[in-house]
Amino acid sequence: MAILVLGGAGYIGSHTVYELIDAGREVVVADNLQTGFKAAVHPKAKFYQLDIRDRGALDTLFQAEKIDGVIHFAASSQVGESMSDPLKYYDNNLYGTMVLLQSMVAHGVDKIVFSSTAATYGEPERVPILEDDKTIPTNCYGQTKLAMEHMMGWVSRAHGLKYVALRYFNACGAHVSGKIGEAHDPETHLIPIILQVPNGQREAVSVFGNDYPTKDGTCIRDYIHVTDLAQAHILALDYLMSGGENNVFNLGNGVGFTVQEVIDVARSVTGHPIPAKMAPRRAGDPAQLIASSEKAVQVLGWKPKYNDLSTIVATAWAWHRDHPHGFEEG
Ligand code: UFG
Repeated sequence: MAILVLGGAGYIGSHTVYELIDAGREVVVADNLQTGFKAAVHPKAKFYQLDIRDRGALDTLFQAEKIDGVIHFAASSQVGESMSDPLKYYDNNLYGTMVLLQSMVAHGVDKIVFSSTAATYGEPERVPILEDDKTIPTNCYGQTKLAMEHMMGWVSRAHGLKYVALRYFNACGAHVSGKIGEAHDPETHLIPIILQVPNGQREAVSVFGNDYPTKDGTCIRDYIHVTDLAQAHILALDYLMSGGENNVFNLGNGVGFTVQEVIDVARSVTGHPIPAKMAPRRAGDPAQLIASSEKAVQVLGWKPKYNDLSTIVATAWAWHRDHPHGFEEG
């Protein structure tokens, strides 16, 4: 029996496939390669190039493979783009998940772990954020992820599907082997953007706002290493396999760093001065997002290993320094 990883050529998906294969699991990857890279797929995983909105392709896969659980990363994930092109997010994220669930129900595949996001909360009522805090997304990306969670809930009631939603905070870092890492085009995330400066691809980093109510005025985020996220998916799948009920878990470090602090850590990791210039606030940025991941620790037995931001940034730097053009340099 195999695990199907949808979106297994993307950033978090590819890291999860590496952990699954290291743990001796059989893995089938499906990805439309719109934002993922074939080179990121572990060579021991069987690969299908397909789009989850293609019911026929999914049915063919479920008929051909013995799948006993699904991990679903296949979604669009840029907050800014979701505001300028919301229908893309309804199409890829919601409609895609609807087609996937139709195919799973038809083939009797009843366990799914999927990527949700801290963006489901919107502006937090308090930090650290708990799973049962209010979910009022402030962008279309978070809204479609929340709707995916609700869709799973209704399908569970009607058809007995079991699901775990994992709400990631700020995923970052790269695999310690240096073989895979973060590669987005365009890149919008803070750590890879900072590292473009010592890589000679950018003159300076822009700090989006220094008048937030935080210790140095810049936004606070909870940065969690991608391999720790990957491990949580395996634990969540095992939890469902051993009879666990539907559940939602935050995944973060529980510690917040300001944008300024992240830049300082990157300066010391890379030995480069990394000039920073102040820029206006970016629309929709909450001042502070920090997770309580206590539930994942207690219920799933999750033990994040990369608690130290310097180590996280060092893994990212090793990847970006050696792959300045991501997977596209051959
Ligand atoms: N930032 C800058 N300069 C940059 C890029 C980012 O100052 O060039 C700041 C942002 O304003 C923010 C922080 O760095 O305060 C982190 O920004 P990212 O874009 O790296 O990450 P976000 O916190 O905006 O978003 C992440 C995920 C989303 C997810 C969200 C949940 O990328 O998918 O967390 O809160 F929805």
